[in-house]
Amino acid sequence: MNALTKTFDPAQVDNRAFREALGRFGTGVTVITCETGTGPLGITANSFSSLSLDPPLVMWAPAKNSSRYPFFMATQRFAIHVIAQDTAEICSAFARDGDAFDQFDWERNDYGVPILNNCLSRFECVTHATHDGGDHSIVVGRVERVTTGDGAPLLFFGGDYGGFEKTS
Ligand SMILES: Cc1cc2nc3c(=O)[nH]c(=O)nc-3n(C[C@H](O)[C@H](O)[C@H](O)COP(=O)(O)O)c2cc1C
Repeated sequence: MNALTKTFDPAQVDNRAFREALGRFGTGVTVITCETGTGPLGITANSFSSLSLDPPLVMWAPAKNSSRYPFFMATQRFAIHVIAQDTAEICSAFARDGDAFDQFDWERNDYGVPILNNCLSRFECVTHATHDGGDHSIVVGRVERVTTGDGAPLLFFGGDYGGFEKTS
């Protein structure tokens, strides 16, 4: 039995209760990368979503108060990496530090975008559109190249990392 115990208007309470309610939505975890004038930059993001098959579009949402925000808004090219369960440390590292590349296996693609090699799926994107989204923006990417393989996904739920368990 799943009991609903709280009702509130998120505009009237502090952000914590709203964040906790949103955190009941389990997601995968990605690391998004781009090149900047001062070197490669990465960020851990669970706002990633598939968007369109034809044309092939995906999206994610950078926070406006992140020091990395201006770079991801300015870039014309970026890559999205779906992280595997056994490499949660990649997410922890890029949540702390946008410059964590040297700890991991990475290279640059033909356009100079830094790409990570240890992930479940990688989407190399051109920035297709950006939209306002309150204290975040929505970045839509047109996927130009996909690299993918098998493995167990890393999931994020209630502020914790974990794994996927099949129910049927
Ligand atoms: C699981 C997880 C998911 C996250 N998702 C996002 C996201 O979707 N968008 C975002 O801007 N930051 C997200 N973050 C926060 C960034 O990874 C990073 O911690 C933040 O940009 C740090 O702020 P700074 O760039 O000012 O140092 C997430 C962090 C974690 C641990």
